[in-house]
Amino acid sequence: MTTSDDTRTAQPDITVTACPDGPLLVRGPATILGPDGEPVPRRRATVALCRCGGTAIAPWCDGTHKVNGYRSDD
Ligand code: FES
Repeated sequence: MTTSDDTRTAQPDITVTACPDGPLLVRGPATILGPDGEPVPRRRATVALCRCGGTAIAPWCDGTHKVNGYRSDD
């Protein structure tokens, strides 16, 4: 017998890790949506989402957090 819990556990793992003073690392097949609600194409299994606001390639991190003084609270 299959239950809804069985379906959930069969899904691939998706994790989001907050990097200290840096981006959010998304591992796994998460769909990233842009401000228009449309999926943003991704080419890698792990992607870095900017949370400093300084990137030139939103929503992805471009490393600007290393030079703009961004500090996270975590
Ligand atoms: S977190 Fe890396 S550029 Fe914003």
